Amino acid sequence: MNILLIGSGGREHALSWQLAQSPSCAKLYAAPGNPGIEAHAECVPIAADDLDALIAFVRAHAIDFVVVGPEAPLVAGIADRLRDLGIPTFGPAAAAAQLEGSKGFTKDLCARAGIPTAAYVRCSSADDARAALADFAIPVVIKADGLAAGKGVIIAETRAEAEAAIADMFAGAFGGAGAEVVIEEFMTGEEASFFALSDGTNVMAFGSAQDHKRVGDGDVGPNTGGMGAYSPAPVLTPDLQEAVMERIIRPTVATLAAEGTPYVGVLFAGLMLTDAGPKLIEYNCRFGDPECQVLMMRFTGDFAALLHAAATGTLADAPAPVFAGGYALTVVMAANGYPGTPEKGGTIGHIADAEAGGVRVFHAGTARADGRIVAAGGRVLNVTATGPTVTEAQARAYAAVDKLDFATGFCRRDIGWREVAREAR
Ligand code: AMP
Ligand code: GLY
Repeated sequence: MNILLIGSGGREHALSWQLAQSPSCAKLYAAPGNPGIEAHAECVPIAADDLDALIAFVRAHAIDFVVVGPEAPLVAGIADRLRDLGIPTFGPAAAAAQLEGSKGFTKDLCARAGIPTAAYVRCSSADDARAALADFAIPVVIKADGLAAGKGVIIAETRAEAEAAIADMFAGAFGGAGAEVVIEEFMTGEEASFFALSDGTNVMAFGSAQDHKRVGDGDVGPNTGGMGAYSPAPVLTPDLQEAVMERIIRPTVATLAAEGTPYVGVLFAGLMLTDAGPKLIEYNCRFGDPECQVLMMRFTGDFAALLHAAATGTLADAPAPVFAGGYALTVVMAANGYPGTPEKGGTIGHIADAEAGGVRVFHAGTARADGRIVAAGGRVLNVTATGPTVTEAQARAYAAVDKLDFATGFCRRDIGWREVAREAR
């Protein structure tokens, strides 16, 4: 098959690496790709959100299959347009991508399907929201309904903070994403990520991971897109994974199918493991970034064929994914300033040295300048290693980080700390 991969981050570098190794992949294109993806695909300079240009490219290049990395083109309807052309596409139609595009949509679906999640109210004005607040204990969670690049969630520790968050959101702090707000009960527990593939009807578990959202060691400081991850997440035991499939994933896919908006692609469930069992925090309609990098590091088999089965309604006939034993762990190297304004243009050296011994350095936000690789985003590199334990995978990842020459970058030094502590017991 000739495959087009849409996207340009570390997630897409990891996807391109697996797709290019797939026996069923003849030619791989990436739009727009990045300097790391160039090793595995022909990169074409089309932005991931330029739907018209993407469609024109697909028509002109005998593309047999499209894999969509990021959420924005899915929410904007790229999968609908590709399927209208008869092109199998891995990623949900706009109606089903509302699972990520609208937090209120997902909460209402959970209510209809009896899926365990935090109690909530949807509010379409600041007055409604302030009135609804009285029914919630503190802390309380205030969320902008729409896509806000991972920034539209405020955990308010006081009522004054909650009211300020409501005022900010309705005043446009997150643009159109905050035209509606969801107020949620605060849940406590350990967080974990769970992935499942769906072809609209059939579902298949696709592994677990744990991310680190805060910018600083010890989980302090502002939220980010994710500073590092490991897979699998042993807190999601086989019994818990089966409970998540039964109580959360299957009812979601069945409800969307019954309502005429079948879900095709990967369901990324952010979970809270509460004393009352796993509860859904939120859905994403794509692979996690950097969770995808650790899943791809462990995947064995024909990845393109598996995604194609999901895209063509034949997942029931596809073999379940096989993941290598042990663990994969990735450390995000970010540019100084992230998650605020990251410093651009810093030179990165010694990537090949860091990759010695089976480590992979995925490019997340890099560019070429005068024959050098330079920083061109907030999250810049994902240094990814494997090991028989999280402790060993972590040691290998940081040994590789220490070989890199990236003076204007930084990383957390404690990725995997929960599991490293458990392994030391
Ligand atoms: P989200 O963007 O929905 O993943 O939210 C970002 C982060 O906010 C999550 O990873 C959780 O740490 C936290 N969060 C979101 N909703 C809740 C909730 N209802 N209770 C506790 N923490 C939450
Ligand atoms: N790492 C979290 C996300 O991709 O949303």
